[in-house]
Amino acid sequence: MSADVDSGRRAAVEQLASDPFNCLGPFSDAKPAQCADLNFMETTSPDLFGAFRSPSLRGVAQRPPYMHAGQFATLHAVIDHYNNAPIASFGRSELKPLQLSDQQIADIESFLATLNPSPPAP
Ligand code: HEM
Repeated sequence: MSADVDSGRRAAVEQLASDPFNCLGPFSDAKPAQCADLNFMETTSPDLFGAFRSPSLRGVAQRPPYMHAGQFATLHAVIDHYNNAPIASFGRSELKPLQLSDQQIADIESFLATLNPSPPAP
């Protein structure tokens, strides 16, 4: 694994488990039994490698760049990525090539642009 590859949740769980300010740490007022999130946190599964939180798509067109490292400048590039489904830099990818036409890609891009930052007024 190269130093510049982000292992995602794998690194995050290590960081959280060793954080002295976590629920089980010396500064916590909680009893260990109250720290269910930490006590039952998955720490060993290979699925943790390269796992990132799925972001909300609300207002997505207004906040480029995209993905955890801002690796895509445009929504078109994101959809292109899903369409091509390249092999993951490490771990495994859950993506399968979508074989979308140019028109379908443009339609998804237009749809994403409709997801305004604020919910519609009641
Ligand atoms: C054509 C279908 C899809 C579209 C149009 C789409 C759209 C997007 C967009 C625009 C982002 C970037 C959001 C941002 O950076 O704020 C994103 C990120 C993400 N999507 Fe999707 N998505 C699709 C399918 C999926 C599927 C099938 C999965 C799960 C298997 C998934 C999981 C994620 C995750 C985990 C991220 C964050 C990745 C990262 O931070 O590097 N998406 N998606």
